Amino acid sequence: LFSAIDMAPRDPILGITEAFNADKNPAKINLGVGVYYDENGKVPLLSCVRKAEAILIEQAAPRTYLPIDGLASYDAAVQELVFGADSVVIQERRAVTVQAIGGTGALKIGADFLQRFAPGAQVYISDPSWENHRALFESAGFVVNNYAYYDAATRGVNFAGMLADLQAMPRGSIVLMHACCHNPTGADLSAEQWGEVIAAVSAGGLIPFLDMAYQGFGAGIAEDGAVVRRFVAAGGPLLISNSFSKSFSLYGERVGALSVVAASADEAARLLSQLKRVVRTNYSNPPVHGGKVVATVLTTPELRQLWEDELAAMRVRIRAMREAFVTKLKEKAPGHDFDFVRQQVGMFSYSGLSKAQVETLAREHSVYAVDTGRICVAPLNAANIDKVVDAIAKVL
Ligand code: LMR
Repeated sequence: LFSAIDMAPRDPILGITEAFNADKNPAKINLGVGVYYDENGKVPLLSCVRKAEAILIEQAAPRTYLPIDGLASYDAAVQELVFGADSVVIQERRAVTVQAIGGTGALKIGADFLQRFAPGAQVYISDPSWENHRALFESAGFVVNNYAYYDAATRGVNFAGMLADLQAMPRGSIVLMHACCHNPTGADLSAEQWGEVIAAVSAGGLIPFLDMAYQGFGAGIAEDGAVVRRFVAAGGPLLISNSFSKSFSLYGERVGALSVVAASADEAARLLSQLKRVVRTNYSNPPVHGGKVVATVLTTPELRQLWEDELAAMRVRIRAMREAFVTKLKEKAPGHDFDFVRQQVGMFSYSGLSKAQVETLAREHSVYAVDTGRICVAPLNAANIDKVVDAIAKVL
C-alpha cells in the first residue's frame, strides 16, 4: 500500500526551521519563520500571559471539552478586537466567530466551509502570498489562482495590475487578502488603495477573505484592523481569519479564530451551525489553555493595557531593527540600495535575495531565510545584526 509513496517536498517555511535545528553552528540565526525574538534573542513569554496564567492556575479549573465553536468569552473578545467594540455587526448579531487552531486552522475552517457552500467558486491569492495559502485552499478542493500584487521593480504593490485582476474575476470568486503586514513582501496597500479594492470587490460581487495574522505589528491594533471595519461598512459577506500566535507570542498554543459576517442575525445563526459541523468533523472542538489566556488578557483591563504595551514594544523594536539593517547594509554593501526595507511593514522583508544567495547564506553563514528571499526581521538584535549584515553583504 505505501511502497509507491513519494517523499513530499520540505515545507517551504517550517522546513527551514528543521534545517536550522539540525545546524550545529552555535551562532546560527533563523530569519525563516515568522517568529518574534526579543533583544536577548529569546521568544518572549509576555508578562500579560504570565499574569493570566497565574490567574488560571489559581482557578484550577477542570479540563472539560470546550463548546465546538470554542470559549464564548474568547469568541466575544475576538469579535471586539477584530470588528471594534462598537461594531454594528456585533450589535446586530450578524458576526459569528469560532475559536480556531491558530490562523492556519481558521483558514482551513473557512476553506472547508466555503467549499460546502460555494463549491464552484475559484480562489484568488496575491502573487506572492504566504506559502501555505495555496496548499490550504487546494487541499479544501479549490482551484487557486493568483492576482497581481508585488512589483519587484518598485519593491511596492503593482496596484494597477491588482485592480485589473480584481475587476476581471468572475462574480462569486473568493479573494484572499492580507489585512495588514503582507506576508511575505511587507508591502501593504495605502488607505486610498484599500478604498478602491473594496469598491472593486463590492462591484464585482466577490467574496473577501481577510487573513489578519499580524494585527498590531503594522501601525497599531486599531489601525491595522481598520480595513476590516471598512469592508464591514461596504456590506456583503466577509470572512476574517486572525491569529494570536505573534501578537501574544503564543505560537505553540495555536490560538486563532475565524469570523464570518452574515446579512442578518438569522443567517448568522445558520452559518454558525454549519461552521460547527466543519469544526466537529476536523478536530471536534478547540483546546482550552490558549483561548483562556487570551480571553483573560483581553477582558481584564489591567492585563489588556499591559498586552497593548508589550505588543507596541515588539512593533517598535522591529522598526528599529529595520532602520539598523538598512544603515548597516549601506556601510557594508554601498552599491546596493536596501532603503525599501524601511517602508515595509510587519515582520517580513522581501529582500530581493535570490534562491542561490539564500542557499549560500545558510551553507556558509548559518543564516537561514526563505528560498523566495523573504527574511523575518524580528529575530535581529544588537548582538546578531552585524553578523547577518556581513553575511548578506558577502553573498550579494
Ligand atoms: C510564517 O509565515 O513564517 C508563519 O506564519 C509561520 C508559518 O506557519 O508559516
